Amino acid sequence: MKKFLDLITEEMQSAFTACGYDEDLAKVTLSNRPDLCEYQCNGAMAAAKRYKKKPIDIANEIVEKLKESRCFEDVSAVMPGFINLKIAGPFLAEYMNGMCAADKLGMEEVQEKQTVIVDYGGANVAKPLHVGHLRAAVIGEAIKRMGRFVGHKVIGDVHLGDWGLQMGLIIEELKDRKPNLPYFDESFTGEYPAEAPFTISELEEIYPAASAKSKADPAFKERAQQATFKLQSGYAPYRAIWRHIMNVSLADLKKNYANLDVEFDLWKGESDAEPYIPGLIKDLTDKGLAYESQGALVVDVVEETDAKELPPCIIRKSDGASLYATSDLATIIEREQDFKPDHYVYVVDKRQDLHFKQVFRVAKKAGIVSPDRRMDFVGFGTMNGKDGKPFKTREGGVMRLEDLIAEITDAAYKRIMENENHAMEGGEAKETARIVGLAALKYGDLSNQATKDYVFDIDRFTSFEGNTGPYILYTVARINSILKKYAAIRETGAAQACGCDAGTGSVSAAGCGGETILPPAGEPEKTLMLALARFSEVMHTSFEELAPHKICAYIYELSNALNHFYHETKIIAEEDEAKRAGYIGLVTLTRACLTTCIDLLGFEAAERM
Ligand code: ARG
Repeated sequence: MKKFLDLITEEMQSAFTACGYDEDLAKVTLSNRPDLCEYQCNGAMAAAKRYKKKPIDIANEIVEKLKESRCFEDVSAVMPGFINLKIAGPFLAEYMNGMCAADKLGMEEVQEKQTVIVDYGGANVAKPLHVGHLRAAVIGEAIKRMGRFVGHKVIGDVHLGDWGLQMGLIIEELKDRKPNLPYFDESFTGEYPAEAPFTISELEEIYPAASAKSKADPAFKERAQQATFKLQSGYAPYRAIWRHIMNVSLADLKKNYANLDVEFDLWKGESDAEPYIPGLIKDLTDKGLAYESQGALVVDVVEETDAKELPPCIIRKSDGASLYATSDLATIIEREQDFKPDHYVYVVDKRQDLHFKQVFRVAKKAGIVSPDRRMDFVGFGTMNGKDGKPFKTREGGVMRLEDLIAEITDAAYKRIMENENHAMEGGEAKETARIVGLAALKYGDLSNQATKDYVFDIDRFTSFEGNTGPYILYTVARINSILKKYAAIRETGAAQACGCDAGTGSVSAAGCGGETILPPAGEPEKTLMLALARFSEVMHTSFEELAPHKICAYIYELSNALNHFYHETKIIAEEDEAKRAGYIGLVTLTRACLTTCIDLLGFEAAERM
């Protein structure tokens, strides 16, 4: 199906051309005065300049032309030359029924399917996942799902930090603790044990201990740097320890991401880019882009149009070690070879803005990717506590992601129990709390524009009222309950009519459950339909702008419209059967839109709350 806005724009364009004006003037937008109209067109103002006429005269001509249009029930010209539009009920209902019948609720997929790589997650192996990694996972997962929904081939890569100093720190700490391990015996020639010399809990304790030690003891830090260098140069015993660290740590990471409903297609890391580094450095040097500066190898990235000075990108330190930027460039070479992506998206802390600017520029300058390749850095802000400082535990330490999820699930459980008529048994209440908790957490994050810092507020996030995940879920649960009642009534009705037992008359989640939606009879119903009509538009724009918060804003609006409609309308008690069936179609369609969006944001709805 065509986008709703496109349909009415086309109608406006034919009016403009029929009156002898250029088609490009006929731009229609959502009204910024909802009290006056639903959509508007300001094209008469621009036309006035082009055709040297009064804007109001042009507007009046267009209005006259549109009198007969099936799209509008009211078209009026307002000084100095605005054209105000109200959508015709039958036209709107027809669009609703079209959405019900079509795939993906009538959203057409993009015409040009692209291969998109989304680099998100970015956890550092052997360090516990903490809230700093929450945003990358949550935002990246949503972007990945949104891209797929509009029709792209999207590949999600966790891009682990698995090659850095933490490895050297762990190796040296292990050496101090267990010097007799064969990895530290240079004369050892046998096979290394298959079993790791530590458990995940030991590993989680070893890293912070080693990190603290390196801050107090420069000699230890020096050793760790040496060990890291040895590992990166391929020293077999350290590679063996590294593999143990990876195995133990990955199992734990996978469990953590799964709890967040975050799934990666690729579990690659910085270490995978290592083999591409020598070729990269040679290429940059051969092309005359890389040059020596104070012993380091650097590439200039300044461009004439820069307002601020950009420092050169360092690709090799004076001690021969490669850097974060080197690894990201090498990864692009690898990705070009494996996938040839049309579009790169990196979801990383916004403090890495400069790093990515440099990396993108070097990649383009060196021809690793073409100059017009789309490379986006989605830099996100910090998640703060109520004190406005980066989120911490009550004791002031770094909050582990597991603990955070447990805390919000508890809070959701309490909310459910507070609701007197929840009627849930223990098992269902626990499962519902998990679902609601995750919705609270993710919506709390995604409803903010990614670049902004936000305050993590459990009380607000788990509230069933206001702009929250649980409110959206509550709306879905409300629709479920309406549909259940309706199905029950239909069953008894049918049973009475034929004098037999009817089967379970459940209403399908897709489309309108087979009911025909009628033109809206009142304002609440129309407002809801107008919101639904924007579905495909919102899906495309949100992905194009990599903006999950736009989907949040949309489902908040949809939920408000649904609840307003619910309070103003007797749905089940409506006596006119066709009307009642139409209402059922409408709320079923609303549920389908809401649950589709919720899924794109990376959470799910509970059956009831
Ligand atoms: N591991 C990095 C960190 O914790 C994030 C990695 C982001 N992705 C990338 N391609 N650099 O800061």
